[in-house]
Amino acid sequence: MLFEKISVVNERFEIEHDRYVGIRDGRIIYIGAWRPSGDWGETYNGHGRLLMPGLYNIHGHAAMTLLRGRGENLSLQRWLNEKIFPFEDKLNDRAVDAGTRLAIAEMLRFGTVSFSDMYFFCQTSAKAILESGIKCSLSRGLTVFDGSDYEDTLAYRDNLDLLKNYNGAGDGRLKIDLCIHGEYTSSPKVVEAVARHAKETGSRVHIHMSETKTEHEACKARHGMTPAAYFEARGLFDQPTTAAHCVWLEDGDFEILKRKGVSVAACPVSNMKLASGFAPVPRMMEMGINVGLGTDSAASNNNLNMMQDLALFALLYKGSTGDPTVITPAQALRAATQNGAIAQGRTDSGVIREGARADLVVLNIDQPWMTPTIDLLTNVIYSAQGSDVCLTMVDGKVLYRDGEYTTIDIEKVKYETQKETDAILAQL
Ligand code: NI
Repeated sequence: MLFEKISVVNERFEIEHDRYVGIRDGRIIYIGAWRPSGDWGETYNGHGRLLMPGLYNIHGHAAMTLLRGRGENLSLQRWLNEKIFPFEDKLNDRAVDAGTRLAIAEMLRFGTVSFSDMYFFCQTSAKAILESGIKCSLSRGLTVFDGSDYEDTLAYRDNLDLLKNYNGAGDGRLKIDLCIHGEYTSSPKVVEAVARHAKETGSRVHIHMSETKTEHEACKARHGMTPAAYFEARGLFDQPTTAAHCVWLEDGDFEILKRKGVSVAACPVSNMKLASGFAPVPRMMEMGINVGLGTDSAASNNNLNMMQDLALFALLYKGSTGDPTVITPAQALRAATQNGAIAQGRTDSGVIREGARADLVVLNIDQPWMTPTIDLLTNVIYSAQGSDVCLTMVDGKVLYRDGEYTTIDIEKVKYETQKETDAILAQL
């Protein structure tokens, strides 16, 4: 495909206008002011359109679309214990299949090209992910509430199967990470065992960390150290790790994340909805910690529209710090794209440059709310709507375009999701 006379977010996260961008064999081959020679297949008219790197949603639980709207306006503990956990006890493969496909459809619709997922029934979601063409770093949720060894858990057996059969599948689009759900849902010996397993298999790790004040303080009371210090001491951060939330970091924690190269998945909408607090993102960024963005689940957001999270991410820390200069539009967009790709270990993605993977989004900028174009990047962050996404491409393949999905039967997926949700609710 050849994008013709289109505005482009370049690798410095600045806008260039009237560019030709050529895609071949899944990669960006050409970017320039002149039409390249050769046969590029379809020519895409870029008038009134902006080509930007695809969005990376680096923390979520896709199949929880099934729980969208369940248990609103409750405290976190009541929400989990009364509404979420009983529903999740009834989950099955059919429900997870439907919920995951719905989540992928929603993400593609709003420009997400890759997501990091932590959940159960991962063999089922792996198939849905591969069929959809989206990218994913998938991790099987691990919680251990008794004295069990990691090797005795179902999660360990699932991890062996997933690593053997799915890691690197779909030309590398699907990657398998290991998981510790959180400090408060595991034990020191399990954390150490997962750290060893990650080292042995060269896996990345996905965790929740310091999401709520209660959780953070309870860890200090139990172990005499913060969650970040605890995970570091048990060797978990020796492999590349993505830590979701990091709302309650203390001074020494920033140094740990920086030293160990831990990526942070900031989830501003989820943190606000569950009243968890405001992550100290400006300080993390100032220190050079890699910060990306996550929606968290549709039960605590309540959508997977990263354009909304992006806008809030760019606004929130101005409000919470009292400093309107923190987090520029370019920093916000880089966080939602390239930083996410780095967190997933996809260093040839997340940015528009020659040779990079063609994971791209086209935004319709020919809209009242995007006019005039004094500063197009600012419009993208503060004015654009998720529904302005008119094309989503992964590895050079168009997966969503102008209301149509190329790999998903959206009517069937919506029907199945409602059906499976109703079936579970009927059992509660
Ligand atoms: Ni989460």
